[in-house]
Amino acid sequence: MVSTSQPISTLTPSVSFNDQIHQDGEIPLTHPSVITAKPAKILICQKSDCRKRGSDKVCALLEKELAQRGLEDRVTIQKTGCLKKCKSGPNIVMLPDKTRYSKVESKQIPGLIEQHF
Ligand code: FES
Repeated sequence: MVSTSQPISTLTPSVSFNDQIHQDGEIPLTHPSVITAKPAKILICQKSDCRKRGSDKVCALLEKELAQRGLEDRVTIQKTGCLKKCKSGPNIVMLPDKTRYSKVESKQIPGLIEQHF
């Protein structure tokens, strides 16, 4: 049995979260800013209108570009249903900032990956 002279509700952590940031600037994985970080993701419409306009090719190039930059573990690609911009396909959405891109062309992909991730 554990006994303590202090009620549990009055105990305070001996180290604050700010104290956990290392002197070299590295933030430990237990830091709240890391725990609450929203996952990076690319949504890409795979319905018929976007597919007709090249979303399969865009998806393959996104995967290739992420792999070349070593980002394949950090950024996931999720194929979705219609994003309601069918005539402007291929359509993608960058998360977590929810930026939408329409009429995405192959030559834009390196710049988009660079800009968002
Ligand atoms: S088919 Fe892609 S947005 Fe509708």
